[in-house]
Amino acid sequence: MDVLIIGGTGLISTGIVKHLVARGANVTMFNRGKRPNHLRHAQVQQITGDRSSLVELSMCARRPWDVVIDMICFTPEQAEADIQVFGGKCRQFIFCSTVCTYGIKSPANILVDETFPQEPISQYGRNKLACEKKFLAAHEQKRFAVTIIRPSHTYGPGAPLIDNLESDAVSWDRIAKGKPVLCAGDGLGLWVSTYRDDVGKLFAYAALNEKTFGQAYNATRDQHLTWRDYYRTVAGVLGKEARLIFMPAEWIWKHDQQRFGLLREITAYHGAYSSEKAKRDVPEFVCETDLATGASATFHDIRRRGAWRNGDSDRLYDIMINKALAIGMEPVILPWSSST
Ligand SMILES: NC(=O)c1ccc[n+]([C@@H]2O[C@H](COP(=O)([O-])OP(=O)(O)OC[C@H]3O[C@@H](n4cnc5c(N)ncnc54)[C@H](OP(=O)(O)O)[C@@H]3O)[C@@H](O)[C@H]2O)c1
Repeated sequence: MDVLIIGGTGLISTGIVKHLVARGANVTMFNRGKRPNHLRHAQVQQITGDRSSLVELSMCARRPWDVVIDMICFTPEQAEADIQVFGGKCRQFIFCSTVCTYGIKSPANILVDETFPQEPISQYGRNKLACEKKFLAAHEQKRFAVTIIRPSHTYGPGAPLIDNLESDAVSWDRIAKGKPVLCAGDGLGLWVSTYRDDVGKLFAYAALNEKTFGQAYNATRDQHLTWRDYYRTVAGVLGKEARLIFMPAEWIWKHDQQRFGLLREITAYHGAYSSEKAKRDVPEFVCETDLATGASATFHDIRRRGAWRNGDSDRLYDIMINKALAIGMEPVILPWSSST
């Protein structure tokens, strides 16, 4: 199986390439070569280029592919370019979308599955949905068979670990130092985090699996946590207890709309999904890494890269904590226990 992956050295794409290689596929990565490639292997080739240049993207279409996976298509224009370049040049096209295409409503049975209406609230979600529609139209026109995969929060080595507020969370340094941290609402929102190697398995084993042609799949593990348990578990990895101060989401993000954009657009809402359809059609998609194990591997990698975020000079965060304490909010202490 000859697979082209646009990206390949990123967070999720690293997990995909690992499993494709394990499947015996020949993998070609197309990227700018700005990031280190830790997956040096005889089965992995590289084409260097920028996908924003149609000429450079077209270098990939000098030969046919069994499967093309696009990890970094974010706009309908990029989707159009993919269809133009790879239409008739590959059997299957796998598009990495997102659960942000669903928006913020919850169904009566809580877990959002692929039948739930797609009503995104962010530009990111709206653009991904527009890309999905373009790829599905290309599928109907038989340009290639399309598979859409919608990850939710995916984490692992190579990237920071989010908290409830922001992508590169300062909380973990504060928790390590015994300081209180902020969490929105009552910390009872539902959340699911999936390790990148587990998400990678779904992409790798959807490749040339005909059941997935023309289909869309959520890509999440089954373990849903409240934010309280998320902090409690990650703090446990640091050998600490989480000391959470609960404040309204809007109060938090209004202190810095850009910095706390993750909270404003995504984590203020329930993020609970069903991936039963993916498990049914791609039985190899078995999520093996729990949050404690995955967070431990992620922190190890962050420290190895010297990318640990030190919160000592984070004045804004200190001001917010002091304001919350001044109005009588007290940290709720969540000791770690192995049952979480
Ligand atoms: N992480 C999550 O929680 C999450 C959740 C839902 C959906 N997603 C989706 O997952 C996808 C991200 O995949 P990922 O984790 O592998 O991405 P990533 O960590 O951002 O890595 C991006 C990859 O693409 C390459 N790249 C970036 N810009 C490029 C360009 N202009 N031309 C060619 N190559 C380029 C990068 O290498 P170079 O820099 O060397 O070019 C790298 O290999 C996105 O579509 C995102 O919407 C992620």
